Amino acid sequence: MAGENRTPVLEMHGISKRFGAVQALLDVDFEVYAGEVVGLVGDNGAGKSTLIKCISGIYQLDSGEIFFEGKKVALNGPQDAANLGIETVYQDLALCDNLDVVANLYLGREATRSLPTGVKGPLDEVCMEKRSIEVLRGLSVSIPSVRTLIASLSGGQRQSVAVARAVMWNSKVVLLDEPTAALGVAQSQQVKELIRNLRNSGLAVVVISHNLADVFEVVDRIIVLRLGKRVGTFNIGKTSREQVVGAITGAEFGMNLNNGENNSQAGVTGEPAGGVA
Ligand SMILES: Nc1ncnc2c1ncn2[C@@H]1O[C@H](COP(=O)(O)OP(=O)(O)OP(=O)(O)O)[C@@H](O)[C@H]1O
Ligand SMILES: [Mg+2]
Repeated sequence: MAGENRTPVLEMHGISKRFGAVQALLDVDFEVYAGEVVGLVGDNGAGKSTLIKCISGIYQLDSGEIFFEGKKVALNGPQDAANLGIETVYQDLALCDNLDVVANLYLGREATRSLPTGVKGPLDEVCMEKRSIEVLRGLSVSIPSVRTLIASLSGGQRQSVAVARAVMWNSKVVLLDEPTAALGVAQSQQVKELIRNLRNSGLAVVVISHNLADVFEVVDRIIVLRLGKRVGTFNIGKTSREQVVGAITGAEFGMNLNNGENNSQAGVTGEPAGGVA
């Protein structure tokens, strides 16, 4: 859980990003702690995906600073983020349907047997299969077999494989863009359970979702963006759905959304949103 005296694993200050005439993000602060799930919510066009892409090194900031484990870092590309242990699972998952679970988990990072000459040998299928089983078991992901083709898995199982792939390489922060959007009830439950397992294993998890019921079930804190600005921060135990909806829509424009002593960070009051051209 978040604690005011701890250093966030990831912290951003004053992030701004403009696309032509559109101010997608304006002076946004963001923080997530190890062992915490943050829900990033906001209406269409609020800036959620842009913020995630700034964190994952896809977009360069116009201004602002990023700190990782307390140290200032520059994210000049996705590789910089990956090197720090920041992994993103995008909505389309980017899995290969015609390959099995093991091949997908190791895509682009295949283990090979080394030959006496030091030359890379053939793929080490036994090692990859063993580790795949361990990783999925560790995350309590249930699939028929690690040799099942992705094409024959359910949506929830696919989402779980994509998340497992993101977190199996010493990740510290995992960003999930709409992880339950395309899933049925049981499959959503499976993914939410997986998110809880990630938190319990000490990862910092950021979940973008339009589904507030899911958000309330799984996150510790909610950060609300509206028109490119951070307009609300809520600790989940002290918050009603109406308060969050109010911040998302701006219905409580000008009212104080600060619903508890713990929400003493910048941006918790329902400051007027604007600044979008
Ligand atoms: N590559 C881009 N070029 C131009 N404008 C962009 C680009 N990406 C985002 N925008 C604009 O920036 C604003 C924020 O978009 P963003 O995709 O971050 O919103 P979002 O909160 O993820 O919305 P949604 O819930 O619909 O996914 C929008 O007005 C969008 O049109
Ligand atoms: Mg988006």
